[in-house]
Amino acid sequence: MINMRTDQIQNEFSDGILTLRINRPDKKNALNLAMYQALADGLSEADSDDAVRVILICGSDDCFTSGNDLTDFLTTPPTGPDSPVMQFLIAISEARKPIVAAVNGAAVGVGVTMLLHCELVYAGNSATFQMPFVNLGLCPEAGSTLLLPRVVGHQRAAELLLLGESFSADKACTLGIVTSVCPDKEVLVTARNKALQLAAQPAAAVRLAKNLLKRDYATQLRETIVEEGVQFIERLKSPEAAEALQAFMQRRKPDFSQFT
Ligand code: COA
Repeated sequence: MINMRTDQIQNEFSDGILTLRINRPDKKNALNLAMYQALADGLSEADSDDAVRVILICGSDDCFTSGNDLTDFLTTPPTGPDSPVMQFLIAISEARKPIVAAVNGAAVGVGVTMLLHCELVYAGNSATFQMPFVNLGLCPEAGSTLLLPRVVGHQRAAELLLLGESFSADKACTLGIVTSVCPDKEVLVTARNKALQLAAQPAAAVRLAKNLLKRDYATQLRETIVEEGVQFIERLKSPEAAEALQAFMQRRKPDFSQFT
């Protein structure tokens, strides 16, 4: 079966479900290179392992993930399609098997956009969601510029991505980013029960249905992820991003007034 690559991503397999648990609580589960690679490897191996019928992604009790490690953006930024983050995005967007997510606490950046690739998403009633890519001088990623408007429409996608404000689990559910909201303590058990229900379904029929659901935009999705990735890497070199990242490190508000 699948080996553990880093203890910050824990792989657990039982009852046909591969659980990928994001486990870096001291940094609010911020994703570093090794974690992206472990997630990408876990997803790819799940796809080729007949024993795995469903993938379940979860974080800790108080945080799903605060998104990309902001320090890594400065020290080891992604450089191209071979970067662990790009491998993760391709793996999650092209996974053949159904993906269930359990969200407790904050889901930020890729912590939200990865949910757009999941089939079922359960969130705790105090979970929060935020896509602050533009706030950081960056651009949206993970195919979200294609998927989010499909789910919520152009104006609401623009509001969520251009203002980058935090929003509640209830709003995420109303928007269609979350399947259902439950009490915080019940999220994981609810998600696991739904994963068990999915695992008991005829696996080939589930895979076919998932594939057909995504058929009309699959090619465009990969192109979008690649194009967003190219732009994202460029944005990381921009003065706007430098100001935003420095502000985060210095725990101050960024000032973008000097840039046009
Ligand atoms: N990258 C690197 N470190 C991060 C991080 C991230 N994305 N998110 C949180 N951390 C670190 C903090 O720097 C802090 O580290 P320290 O204890 O060494 O100082 C620790 O995790 C706890 O974070 P803190 O901000 O004190 O927790 P909080 O509960 O007040 O807030 C968040 C949680 C997730 C709302 C907040 O940390 C946040 O907004 N993080 C940045 C999210 C982000 O912009 N992600 C990138 C999106 S593209």
